[in-house]
Amino acid sequence: MHLVPTSVSIAPSFEEPAMKSLSVLSASGAIAALLVVVAVVAVGAEPVGNKADGATKAAVCAACHGPKGISVNPLWPSLAGQQEAYLVKQIKEFRDGVRVEATMQPFVANLTDQDAADLAAYYASLSPCP
Ligand code: HEC
Repeated sequence: MHLVPTSVSIAPSFEEPAMKSLSVLSASGAIAALLVVVAVVAVGAEPVGNKADGATKAAVCAACHGPKGISVNPLWPSLAGQQEAYLVKQIKEFRDGVRVEATMQPFVANLTDQDAADLAAYYASLSPCP
């Protein structure tokens, strides 16, 4: 035997002021929660650079890029004052073999994402070439 519904229940109207403000509230709550999740994921994915740690880690880089990030060899780029995000990207690309350069590769081959972030924060903080 089939039961045929005689009346269809109608979804509550969201036009009522109380319901409306409630749904706006829960929507903004959901957005806030989503933003928190996105922020946590973003921080987890991209380590924050520490320039003091970067200065220590840069000892080996100074031979080519200069003690203050300013190179004296025309084939070695100066890194002082360069954009931090760009430096992170380049260091990782050398490390991962996306950007290939035989001179650079051995020095970045074993760096972690944290090392890259620290080195980038350090070089970005230095005064650029005059
Ligand atoms: C033996 C010399 C040498 C050492 C040591 C060295 N580099 Fe380099 N680096 C180079 C050269 C040469 C290039 C240019 C590569 C090219 O022409 O693509 C370069 C390029 C770079 C770039 C890209 C700059 C740009 O403007 O695109 C970054 C960033 C960098 N090096 C960071 C580092 C860091 C960090 C270290 C230390 C962990 C380091 N390098 C150690 C020689 C060196």
